[in-house]
Amino acid sequence: MGWDFCFAFREADSVWKEQRKLFYEYFRPDRARQYSDAQRTETHAFLRRLLNSPQDFLEHTHHLFGSALTKLVYGIAVKESKDPYVEVAEEAVAGLSKAIHPGKYLVDIFPALKHIPVWMPGAGFRKTGIYFAALNEKLVKAPFEAAEASIAKGEMVESIVADMVSKLSSDPVLRAEQRKMEMHVAATAYAAGADTTVAAVQTFFLLMAMHPEVQKRAQAELDTFLGVDPDRLPDFSDRGTLPYIEALVSELLRWNLVVPASIPHASVEDDLYEEYFIPKGTLIIANVWTLSRDPIMYPEPDKFIPERFLKNGVINNNIRDPRTLIFGFGRRICPGRH
Ligand code: HEM
Repeated sequence: MGWDFCFAFREADSVWKEQRKLFYEYFRPDRARQYSDAQRTETHAFLRRLLNSPQDFLEHTHHLFGSALTKLVYGIAVKESKDPYVEVAEEAVAGLSKAIHPGKYLVDIFPALKHIPVWMPGAGFRKTGIYFAALNEKLVKAPFEAAEASIAKGEMVESIVADMVSKLSSDPVLRAEQRKMEMHVAATAYAAGADTTVAAVQTFFLLMAMHPEVQKRAQAELDTFLGVDPDRLPDFSDRGTLPYIEALVSELLRWNLVVPASIPHASVEDDLYEEYFIPKGTLIIANVWTLSRDPIMYPEPDKFIPERFLKNGVINNNIRDPRTLIFGFGRRICPGRH
């Protein structure tokens, strides 16, 4: 399907290492904090859209993150609706979400099948692959080339790609290699960041519709803290003073995991874990879903109860923060989590 541009799906080789390092430069905690102004601007625009046409909340949520990431990564302002960059990315990621389940296609179990001709009966998966590979090529190239053109004309204000391109080597061979890596890392940020965040925020709408009493309590907390100035909107600096909303977000992330089986891994060498022998190449799936449903840590785990994260009105640090589960673990932990 042409997802090999995205380092989330690479084995931990030298290319993965280099790409992850470059990605980290732009998404490490101190860098992520510099994006607050842009996030605030996008969020306020989202709130205005929501106020004008609340019935389109699902579309507005897609637009919020599609727009925020396209601006941040490529410096491109997307169209209000049917933006070509956002549409391509959404279709590509939707295709991935369907295909990523291990065993979805027989070729996952018998890799040799990838060589069967496209015209043969049962080769539908190859046509799917070819279709998405072409789409992914667009996803990777189109916004990057548009950003380059705008940089060349001196129109680009600020973006991750503008910064990357400014550091390209003058040596043509090295430059071509670096450019390809930058193109891949930029597209990875977009592809890995847009749908995950959308899913989390859409879950918020679902949960507020299911639990109006939680919404009322959250609203009351906001009103109490912001009441002195009714025109002010909550901001990043208010987070510490809104424990119920903080607990609500934690419970939301626990209740509906965005990536319930994380991304499957594979052992790089033979290993022993307690009485288990794990041969090299074994597919390992971290069952994050089960961890999020641990009835000892989270009694009545299927219920949505923000209060479980609170004690005497403040966040209870003895309850496991789901953020320690939902972004994966170890060297492959989500580098976009900040
Ligand atoms: C609610 C939001 C998000 C969730 C729940 C989430 C979750 C995850 C998970 C479970 C993994 C796999 C970790 C593993 O293999 O152990 C992952 C990997 C990754 N995520 Fe996220 N993610 C989110 C947002 C983002 C954002 C906003 C970005 C980019 C700006 C991003 C970029 C990545 C990348 C590049 C990887 C691959 C890391 C690697 O293989 O080395 N993610 N994410």
